[in-house]
Amino acid sequence: MKPKNIDSIINSIAELPTLPTIYMKLSRLLNVQDSSIRMISDIIAEDQAVSAMVLKIVNSALYGFYNKIGDLQRAIVILGLNEIKNLVLATSMYKTVKQFKPGSAFDMEGFWKHSTGCAISAKVLAETAYIKDPEDIFTGGLLHDIGKLIHATYLSEEFEDIIADVEETGSQMFESERKILGFDHVQTGSALAKKWHLPQKIIDMIAHHHLSDTSCTLTKEVAAVHIGNTICISLCMGSGGEKRVPIVNQKAWEILDLKLSDLEYIIQRSTKLFEESISNMEFK
Ligand SMILES: [Fe+2]
Ligand SMILES: [Fe+2]
Repeated sequence: MKPKNIDSIINSIAELPTLPTIYMKLSRLLNVQDSSIRMISDIIAEDQAVSAMVLKIVNSALYGFYNKIGDLQRAIVILGLNEIKNLVLATSMYKTVKQFKPGSAFDMEGFWKHSTGCAISAKVLAETAYIKDPEDIFTGGLLHDIGKLIHATYLSEEFEDIIADVEETGSQMFESERKILGFDHVQTGSALAKKWHLPQKIIDMIAHHHLSDTSCTLTKEVAAVHIGNTICISLCMGSGGEKRVPIVNQKAWEILDLKLSDLEYIIQRSTKLFEESISNMEFK
């Protein structure tokens, strides 16, 4: 199967999960100039499961607030709108991911842990490197491998062949995907993100996280997700199905302008936050 256009694959999958309604409503509201904190919290409160999880995450070690934050309006004031929007996307994404019904060759728990580990490591890298809007990078990390889930769900036979090829050859998954499908998970994942009308920054993080295309423009955001992915593979935070740790792209490390001594802190902090996060997960 070698389609010329990945968009045609994405568009041909009629039952593809849609982006959570709550995220769409929130994005629309945030584009209106006079939206109030009350209006925003009302939208989040419409979804009990998402609002409960937002509060749980706001109160977790990920944010490190000393006093407990008990209501959404306060959470919005403290964290800011962009962070809340991304948190809503992240939490409602857990629900969206559950709508996918991948074949048995796919390790859903390992995948979700890997996605969370990458999101956390990329965000910690971004904060340490003083990159603007680290919460966008969290979202990029969370969704970076979403294309694998699409393959495992809608191309499950080919996905089994890909898994076998990775096992046999020691290739990275995107290499086996190109061989078997003619395209890879960064193409499928970024096409889905485009269909979901996610910001270009996030589409780019998904599309380039392997930095396999030398012609792509390397941004700090892409570099953070690229290295975050490598960190969580090397620390075995979940599993995205890879059998070997990829080599970090030298330019990605350089653009973040970090010292090797920063790496120790990044690894320690990411591990701590990862442990905390997965203890709250339903996929455990
Ligand atoms: Fe990947
Ligand atoms: Fe990954």
